[in-house]
Amino acid sequence: MTRSSRIAGFYTRPLAERRRALAEVASLSDAARAWLDGGGGLDLAVADRMSENVVATIGLPLGVALNLRVNGKDHVVPMAVEEPSVIAAASNAARMVRLGGGFTADADAPIMTAQIWLDEVGDADRACVRIADEAAALRALGDAAIPRMVARGGGCRDVTARIVGDGIVVVEVDLDVGDAMGANLVDTVAEAVAPAVARLTGGRVGMRILTNLPRGRRVRASCVVPAEAVGGDGVVAAIARASHFAELDAARAATHNKGIMNGIDAAAVALGQDWRAIEAGAHAFAARSGRYAPLATWQRTERGLAGSIELPMAVGIVGGGTHTAAVKAALEVVDVASARELACVIAAIGLASNLAALRALAGEGIQRGHMRLHQRRHDEAAASPSTRTGEP
Ligand code: MEV
Repeated sequence: MTRSSRIAGFYTRPLAERRRALAEVASLSDAARAWLDGGGGLDLAVADRMSENVVATIGLPLGVALNLRVNGKDHVVPMAVEEPSVIAAASNAARMVRLGGGFTADADAPIMTAQIWLDEVGDADRACVRIADEAAALRALGDAAIPRMVARGGGCRDVTARIVGDGIVVVEVDLDVGDAMGANLVDTVAEAVAPAVARLTGGRVGMRILTNLPRGRRVRASCVVPAEAVGGDGVVAAIARASHFAELDAARAATHNKGIMNGIDAAAVALGQDWRAIEAGAHAFAARSGRYAPLATWQRTERGLAGSIELPMAVGIVGGGTHTAAVKAALEVVDVASARELACVIAAIGLASNLAALRALAGEGIQRGHMRLHQRRHDEAAASPSTRTGEP
């Protein structure tokens, strides 16, 4: 069934009705409905198994961003974040983008990279040649350590070596991790091939771990928003100007990117993703030229305002933290068929968040919007005690 991400008047409805509307729009399973109706959260016994020294759980507001359309398909996006306006802003910007046809996005194949670091390599050039000669055998060793991933069509794809310093070589194994985020698979492969790598290079193994800058797992999203949808030519020009400022200065780029990560992290947290890994990859990528740069930029074009974003995106829909009731429900809501599709949706939310921030900054500033939202919440809470308690 084709699903719409537009739910008219969603924010004006009482909480219980919002849940009902979401359950209906997202055709939620009985398990997801029960979790939602129970108020969400994380079972303490599950929490105790997930982490150590557990004494309690901590809550965050879980909302949904509406109006998002990516590659012609609507997605309702769960977002967990304590900062007011993030979800409203993303929904609002997604509505504007929708008027231009929505976001176009594509994600690379899910290739992650394991690093095996060696020092005390006597002949680094020869070590690199030996790794290249034995690449197929090393791939086979890596694959033998992750048979279930290989059976699902993933596995090791490439093995390369680089000289990084005096007697220091890093061997990198690229592997296809399918619909997983892949950190555990990558680390397993790194540990499995390290002894052979040490023998071939004559070096001493220092580290065996993934890189959080997965060069082969990027996502790109773009959109063209009609000028009238953002508020006219003047607003288009102001947003393009604000984007240019971020290109000129790392201090501004950091704040610009923080606005992007407001959306990306909130979606990543709600969807059970390793948001620290996404953060690490995003900022390393932003600094790839040697100068910290904006992850998304906006230009004025004949058709209005054109925006695009690119960043690494290691996310998964299987394994990792995806087994909890909360994440299962969130994945039902967002309705993606693959990790690549999830990456596209999260990148689009990042671009929407950036558009909302720049539009507010270029116009009235962000404080008035924040204060309006605070006031609305206050008025709603005063009018209806039910919204305060979360009870129907
Ligand atoms: C606040 O959380 C995010 C912004 O500072 C982003 C930006 O300045 O672009 C509004």
